[in-house]
Amino acid sequence: MASRREFLALSAVAAAAGVAAPRLMAAQKDGDNDQGRRDEALPKQPPLAMDLFPPELHYGAGGTQMGNMYRVTSDEEARAMLTAAWESGTRYFDTSPWYGLGLSERRLGRFLSDKDPSEYLLSTKVGRLLTPDASVESVGMWKGNLRTDYRYDYSADGVRRSIEDSLQRMGVSKIDLVYIHDLAPSNEDMGQEWKQYFEIARKGAIPELERLRDEGIIGGWGMGVNDIEPSLAAMEAGSPDVILQATQYTLLNHRDAMDRLFPVCRERDVPLVIGAPLGSGFLAGSTYWMYKTDIPDGFRDKRDRISAIAREHGTDLRTAALQFTAAPDVVAATIPGARTAEHARENHASMTANIPADFWDALKSERLIEQDAPVPGQV
Ligand SMILES: NC(=O)c1ccc[n+]([C@@H]2O[C@H](COP(=O)([O-])OP(=O)(O)OC[C@H]3O[C@@H](n4cnc5c(N)ncnc54)[C@H](OP(=O)(O)O)[C@@H]3O)[C@@H](O)[C@H]2O)c1
Repeated sequence: MASRREFLALSAVAAAAGVAAPRLMAAQKDGDNDQGRRDEALPKQPPLAMDLFPPELHYGAGGTQMGNMYRVTSDEEARAMLTAAWESGTRYFDTSPWYGLGLSERRLGRFLSDKDPSEYLLSTKVGRLLTPDASVESVGMWKGNLRTDYRYDYSADGVRRSIEDSLQRMGVSKIDLVYIHDLAPSNEDMGQEWKQYFEIARKGAIPELERLRDEGIIGGWGMGVNDIEPSLAAMEAGSPDVILQATQYTLLNHRDAMDRLFPVCRERDVPLVIGAPLGSGFLAGSTYWMYKTDIPDGFRDKRDRISAIAREHGTDLRTAALQFTAAPDVVAATIPGARTAEHARENHASMTANIPADFWDALKSERLIEQDAPVPGQV
């Protein structure tokens, strides 16, 4: 086998003999050498599937559990969950480099590898670049031996590199939607410094994603954040195609989004994808509310009462929670995260279930949800 030094020497000889000339000439012909070189690793005319947006039933599959959120999910569990989601008819899948530091993307990409790219809609995120690091085990809520570290980069170069990395990691030929991830005050790495990060994105990530979209390299871009402020700021700074708004719109917390976010989305014609519609598990019966175990006062009682009313009306809490988040005119999709095949089937079934109008009337009459909250069938 040639040593690294021999390999470099051989490469230099080949270049001198003109072996590399066609690529060089192609770049010069572009008239934009830098841009040509920068985009070299990105697919020029990827098989995007934006015709699948908004997804059927206004529903898609989240990718956090495949990244070992809270606990290790096995490869078999992740594959079974994806198979069940696909067989139920789910065709929108969301992931991120951040979910399990690459693990969620690897698992999703492997699953999608034998699927026709025109048949599914795929979103991932940018803003964190991953690097191998043997000393890293679990990171925050991502469990297992991850052996990967991360750093933030919301520059144009960082965004392009992140998209390249994701394409390679997943082994797919396209990414339909790209979200700028976790650039938000509630991100504990940032706090109020999020504004400085946003300034970098305003000059870097945002114009770059708009260019990639306009050139058809991605289908569209948006924010993927847990706070409303960065979503509003992005609609001021650019023209996002969609916003993935997480943690701000559920059965138990919706007033703020209705007041501050929905009107701007309507005015700018920017649809929403709702992340964490189950409050990260609480509205499906788990002990986590928005990734923490300290539950706000009154939430347990409210959840139990809604659950009891749901049972009286022949439905269930999870079904109500999911359909509630998909109901507003501004919402294109709700994307719960499922861990098992059973979760995937149940969540899909929840989106097709019939909830009697009386149920929503009962919630409003007991002031369990806002009087003017949009509900299914009454929007
Ligand atoms: N900043 C962002 O861009 C952002 C932030 C948050 C979320 N998101 C997106 O939104 C997606 C959903 O958020 P999420 O997964 O964090 O929270 P979620 O959908 O609100 O809740 C997921 C949790 O609910 C439980 N669950 C789901 N289906 C269930 C079922 N049928 N029966 C019982 N329990 C069920 C699971 O709990 P167990 O863990 O106990 O199995 C799962 O971990 C994410 O996957 C991600 O794609 C984006």
